[in-house]
Amino acid sequence: MIGGLCVGTLGKQNNMQIGPYTLKNRLILAPMAGVTDRPFRQLCRSLGAGLAVSEMVSSNSLLWGSDKTRRRANHEGEVGPKSVQIMGTDPEMMAQAAKVNADNGAQIIDINMGCPAKKVCNVLAGSALLKDETLVGQILEAVVNAVDVPVTLKIRTGWDRQGRNAPTIGKIAQESGIQALAIHGRTRADQYTGEAEYDTIADVKSRIRIPVIANGDITTPEKAKHVLDTTGVDAIMIGRAAQGRPWIFREIEHYLNTGNKLPEPKVKEVRDILLKHLQNLHAFYGEHTGVRVARKHISWYSKGQAHGAAFRKTINNIDNFESQLLMVHQFFERLIAKEEMAA
Ligand SMILES: Cc1cc2nc3c(=O)[nH]c(=O)nc-3n(C[C@H](O)[C@H](O)[C@H](O)COP(=O)(O)O)c2cc1C
Repeated sequence: MIGGLCVGTLGKQNNMQIGPYTLKNRLILAPMAGVTDRPFRQLCRSLGAGLAVSEMVSSNSLLWGSDKTRRRANHEGEVGPKSVQIMGTDPEMMAQAAKVNADNGAQIIDINMGCPAKKVCNVLAGSALLKDETLVGQILEAVVNAVDVPVTLKIRTGWDRQGRNAPTIGKIAQESGIQALAIHGRTRADQYTGEAEYDTIADVKSRIRIPVIANGDITTPEKAKHVLDTTGVDAIMIGRAAQGRPWIFREIEHYLNTGNKLPEPKVKEVRDILLKHLQNLHAFYGEHTGVRVARKHISWYSKGQAHGAAFRKTINNIDNFESQLLMVHQFFERLIAKEEMAA
């Protein structure tokens, strides 16, 4: 129990609302550059995520023509609402980026002030911006005024542990017309070390009226319920725990609705999900890039499986689509046979 808040979640149906959009539940896939491309977003949506935020798109218009940015802005066939994340430091450029993406079909614009990457922070974008509250307000207002679609914001709890200014940023966000606020329970200085804390998130939630989304280290259905219950937030956002386990959303949804845990998926189902995921990656990126992007996903799915390490070593040298699929197929065939023998 934090700050006197303890809201039971079991069976609760108040789904997340972002502007005019009611999400089907309170579970959101976190934006992850290099991971949450269209195939992965579609996969997580099909396995229970109520919203999947795209990888960030730079506000630097010089990059808009590149293959990478074009792919990041590709939402063909995606179920709405489509949320596109933008990042940058100049209010005018951010407003322009928001407009271009909204014109291109984004139904929600998400602003990234949560990313601690060096490349981002050196130019005072991402979480480095949290230090300059005036500039934060200017960026938020410029973006909100530039588009008709709802604008959301993603932040960390502050610059460092002495400068946890998420409550102030939350107020600025609300006054600027931001429609939902996602908070990763670490400071920028923490990078990814230590454990995410949720007290600051609960504090922000108790001070503002706009929906708040808790993020950081939510890895199991029990933890998801605990964070929802103890912070009173409107939704939770899951990043790394969905890598190689996109079914985590259906597991959490089931647990929140029933109080019971779903059994782990059978190896056969994992194989089928992975093979389809690989086919979609290959179709989206083409063979050369698709095979390379697929390697990290294969490695996440095979983590913890018998002989996974040796398998990863071999498959990472494969550079064509057909052989990659065949090797994955053979690896899982052996696991399926083993699972069936043990049953
Ligand atoms: C590989 C990777 C890429 C990320 N890229 C972004 C990004 O583009 N924008 C952003 O706001 N956060 C980004 N993040 C942060 C995540 O959205 C999330 O806040 C963080 O991973 C904590 O959540 P988790 O513990 O559930 O993973 C990234 C994280 C990872 C691991």
